[in-house]
Amino acid sequence: MGKQITPKVTWVGKIDWELKTFHGDELSTHKGSSYNSYLIRDEKTALIDTSWIPYDKEFVNNLKQEIELNKIDYIIMQHNECDHSGALVELMREIPNTPIYCTAKGEAIIRGHYHKDWNFVNIKTGDTLPLGETTLTFVEAPMLHWPDTMFTYMSGENILFSNDGFGQHFATESLFNDAVDSSEVYYEAMKYYCNILNLFSPMVTKKIKEILAMNLPLNMICPSHGIIWKDNPEQIVETYLKWADAYQENQITLVYDTMWQSTRLMAQAIAKGIQEADGNVTVKILNAAKEDKNDILTEIFKSKAFLIGCPTINNGYSYAIAGLLEMIKGLKFKKKKAAAFGSYGWSGDAVKQLTEKLQNAGIEIVNDGIRKLWVPDNAMLEDCKEYGKEFVKSL
Ligand code: FEO
Repeated sequence: MGKQITPKVTWVGKIDWELKTFHGDELSTHKGSSYNSYLIRDEKTALIDTSWIPYDKEFVNNLKQEIELNKIDYIIMQHNECDHSGALVELMREIPNTPIYCTAKGEAIIRGHYHKDWNFVNIKTGDTLPLGETTLTFVEAPMLHWPDTMFTYMSGENILFSNDGFGQHFATESLFNDAVDSSEVYYEAMKYYCNILNLFSPMVTKKIKEILAMNLPLNMICPSHGIIWKDNPEQIVETYLKWADAYQENQITLVYDTMWQSTRLMAQAIAKGIQEADGNVTVKILNAAKEDKNDILTEIFKSKAFLIGCPTINNGYSYAIAGLLEMIKGLKFKKKKAAAFGSYGWSGDAVKQLTEKLQNAGIEIVNDGIRKLWVPDNAMLEDCKEYGKEFVKSL
């Protein structure tokens, strides 16, 4: 059911407590998510975004409890990935002539998804839609994170509807940021940024600066996933600017896979050396085959440097590490340093291959890495510890 968030705006979305993965299995969503949709009732009525396909009927039925559907004057589609546009078919079945305001790319994407000839109105940055006492102003935000993305600013109530921007996969019945655990929300916001937006960081910075230059009063940021930023909404804008600027904390993360524990022993010894050389640095050790890939990537996002470890398997490296390296490449991390390590029995190619892969992903390579034959004994582990000390000193 709807939840009134201001005198004129009602949240009419879907809270999805059950969602555990998103984008197929590409992104873990341990805390669920929500598909936020907003109904604005002024002299004219506008609906901003819809919901994901599995909840299309539930979405439309709930919307009917709020308003007679034929009283909706405008549908605003800010981004047309199916988690937001999925309920359009069900909705448009009831109100087929209602204009859909979206970017030209948005129209192409809706047509490509649903193959319907609806009444599209293409918007560009600066276009306005007066609703009565309030007015919507549209801002195109291409590649944040799809080509069709746009934001909508509602003057009068000073709300920025930001779609995926500033969102988090975080289910809550509370809706607002001041009613939830801030550390949980920030972790999910960072994980979302790292895994979905990081590769578009230059566009994030540019778009935020463009919007800040407009000097718009801001009471609330209403994203399409997770909580609404009501208490000090600027905080997430400032945080995004930091995240978009080659973000790092004083952290080093070791990510490894292991077959018979040798590479794990190396990881622990390297970590010990790092910690002995620099007691202030946060060190995390994560098994790539056991930890969640998106949480690992989030730890790498936070790190100033990281090490990837894997034994040589089939003259290469493991499935878990291969997948992770592909994601590291895709996310285009900036100003991160790294090296590789691993045990081996005969060919021992993995460390060299991992180093090349990291280099191709735009990571600055600290050194040639370290490898140990068979099971490392105490002397070999002492080498690993010394390697860890040198690694942290050379950052
Ligand atoms: Fe939440 Fe890009 O869809």
